[in-house]
Amino acid sequence: MEKLIITGGGPLQGEVTIAGAKNAALPAIAACLLSAEPVTLTNIPGVRDIDTALQLLSLMGCEVERDANTLQVTASTLTSVRAPYELVRTMRGSILLLGPLLARFGEADVSLPGGCAIGSRPVNEHITGLERMGAEIDIEAGYIKAKATRLKGAHIVFDVPSVTATENLMMAATLADGTTVIDNAAMEPEITDLALMLSSMGARITGAGTNSITIEGVVSLHGAQHQIPPDRIETGTFLVAAAATRGDITLRNSNAAHLQYVIAKLEDVGSDISSGPDWIRLNSRGLRPQPVNITTAPYPAFPTDMQAQFVTLNALADGSSTVVETIFENRFMHIAELQRMGAHIELQGHTAAIQGTERLQAAPVMATDLRASASLVIAALAADGDTTIDRVYHLDRGYDNIDAKLADLGASTRRVSG
Ligand code: EPU
Repeated sequence: MEKLIITGGGPLQGEVTIAGAKNAALPAIAACLLSAEPVTLTNIPGVRDIDTALQLLSLMGCEVERDANTLQVTASTLTSVRAPYELVRTMRGSILLLGPLLARFGEADVSLPGGCAIGSRPVNEHITGLERMGAEIDIEAGYIKAKATRLKGAHIVFDVPSVTATENLMMAATLADGTTVIDNAAMEPEITDLALMLSSMGARITGAGTNSITIEGVVSLHGAQHQIPPDRIETGTFLVAAAATRGDITLRNSNAAHLQYVIAKLEDVGSDISSGPDWIRLNSRGLRPQPVNITTAPYPAFPTDMQAQFVTLNALADGSSTVVETIFENRFMHIAELQRMGAHIELQGHTAAIQGTERLQAAPVMATDLRASASLVIAALAADGDTTIDRVYHLDRGYDNIDAKLADLGASTRRVSG
């Protein structure tokens, strides 16, 4: 198993290019199943979750061609509609295959994802929504077995605004008979992007990006070309790393409009932030971060995917703060690791009470999930000495070429196996 060793202490300085968004690319890849014609996706990130998604599509009999960051998928005929547990358990986003498979092929056999390090993560909204559209769904031996001759338009109201359930049902509804309305829909930018892609394939969708989305079903969708937008969480992670190390960095291929809440918090931390249409610069002016209180909530509020990184930043801040996690019940696994590096954090239920310390100390630590690993990388970059991060495969699920990007910003990192 690979470990990442980071020698900390210096400021991040320089420029890097942000990759395409993992969480926009995953639904886009699933959406390729909705057409018999080739679909081309550009700006695909080089991350492990994308490899897993493409492995699933290949297993199902799709033609998949990948050349650097460009991908072409042709789903003219399928040989299987099964997403097996062995792959689904490594990537919960596999649930996104359920809606498109059912809508186009009338059948799907997708493993239940099960729990994961950040919580139990149920999929009831996906299943209930598809049932409302006329699907027959049985859970058998850990698999969601779904059937429908043709899905029917329906009015769906979510109890919680789930991101992937909104995407799944939006995709399913594009080929349904009649009109579907999704209320209390999630409003994340990845949903707006998926609607854009589906519309370029001939789907009829209005309201994506608001909490009420209307989809008028059509008989078939055609091929298209679509560019994946920049990854807002990778962008935010680098911005926090620059603030934590008192650095000055510029991120190319990034979109400040998708990160307004995070940027406002970084300004409260004391950083100067400037941006153009496709770049963002954070200049910490060499100052120690000020503490900021955070409460995670669905978009456009503060993203749960940036919570762990801000816990690290607050652990280095000049004062005390609280970080409240409202989306996932168990997304604080990084805290025990940060404590091993000298962070003063007390966990009370869903709230982390943090007393900043000027320096963290290097220590061997363990990554538990994707964003927790990012928070440990940031801590290691700011700490005195060599930090070894074990189970670094979590990081590679969602961060494209992170070692090279950190090196471009002046950080010293190396990988070892064992
Ligand atoms: N929920 C339900 N029932 C459902 C679905 C969700 O109760 O059927 C609850 C969840 O338990 C959670 C809340 O709704 O409390 C929101 O979860 P959501 O379904 O929105 O999460 P997701 O769609 O599984 C996506 C991202 C996550 C990100 C969350 C929240 C993808 C592939 N994944 O997950 O990304 O944390 O939205 O923004 O888009 C990551 O990239 O590290 C990551 C975990």
